[in-house]
Amino acid sequence: MQSYSLIAAAKINLYLEIIGERPDGYHELAMVLQSIDLADYINLRANGTEQFRIYCQHPQVPLDKTNLAYRAAELMASAFPDVFAKYGGVDITIHKNTPVAAGLAGGSSNAAAVLVGLDLIWKLGLTQSELQELGKQLGSDVPFCITGGTALATGRGEQLSPLPDLDNFYVVLAKYRSLAVSTAWAYQTFRQQFGASYVRDAQKLLERQQRVHSGLMVNAIAHRDGAKIGQLLYNDLEKVVFPAYPQVADLRATFYQLGAKSNGNFLGAMMSGSGPTVFALTASEASARYLAEEIKAAKAGTDLEVWVARFLPTGIQIAPTLPKN
Ligand code: C5P
Repeated sequence: MQSYSLIAAAKINLYLEIIGERPDGYHELAMVLQSIDLADYINLRANGTEQFRIYCQHPQVPLDKTNLAYRAAELMASAFPDVFAKYGGVDITIHKNTPVAAGLAGGSSNAAAVLVGLDLIWKLGLTQSELQELGKQLGSDVPFCITGGTALATGRGEQLSPLPDLDNFYVVLAKYRSLAVSTAWAYQTFRQQFGASYVRDAQKLLERQQRVHSGLMVNAIAHRDGAKIGQLLYNDLEKVVFPAYPQVADLRATFYQLGAKSNGNFLGAMMSGSGPTVFALTASEASARYLAEEIKAAKAGTDLEVWVARFLPTGIQIAPTLPKN
């Protein structure tokens, strides 16, 4: 087939702890990542040329080599030059639904879709772990975006251990349209402010990593204990993003105020990744929709955008083809 459409799911972080600094300059992390059904649609079509071209209507999405989806295509071409010479380039059309620079891995999920799509178009037959090896060269979240679901992520975020699927959980996502946070800025600021407390000793790091696997959040997920998961939501990057963007801190506080008045289905709220998106976790779709209306009303007159999304057990999926008639 010359064309594939892929669904690229966004993610949230149920947990993000910064443990220390790595020799490669990145941070050693312990995260729990969760795919959600807020997704971009990526179409790949063989274009019969030696080029890759990106098409996207969204004003914040670059169409050049700075787009991670473009870099994913170039990486595949350099990893498989013979196959690239045989099949040629593709046109990549991105239908963007996920907000940009929002802490939801929108760019990483698009890159993951390009890896999966080119594997199909070029008939490479790569395994998921081969695709993930390629993905980690593009960004720390790309390997997770390929497989998705619920996973514990350690190392830079690329070492993944699958966790049991969490069904029937919903999130209300809220982001001020005009706010964007750079992930590099957030980590760099964290290093400046909290670097003195990083775990540096190799043995201590190993112990710390092992503890993560039997940690409270992993345990709560294994038991699908929504109330516990809600209590254990955690994100170290709030410590740097909240002081710089007080409206994001206020958004989380407002979710808790509204949640306290709701019928018990509100489980907790937290910033996702490096922000500025804040999500509220609920145990039913009805409560998520109700809370979404409440947060819109509470922040009326601002440029707050609100979505309701459901937890997904998958990352990149092939979109079903539309029936011909
Ligand atoms: O891997 P990715 O390109 O998504 O990371 C973006 C930036 O976030 C990196 O340049 C780095 O500054 C920071 N980062 C980090 N430690 C990680 C992941 C990301 O310091 N584990």
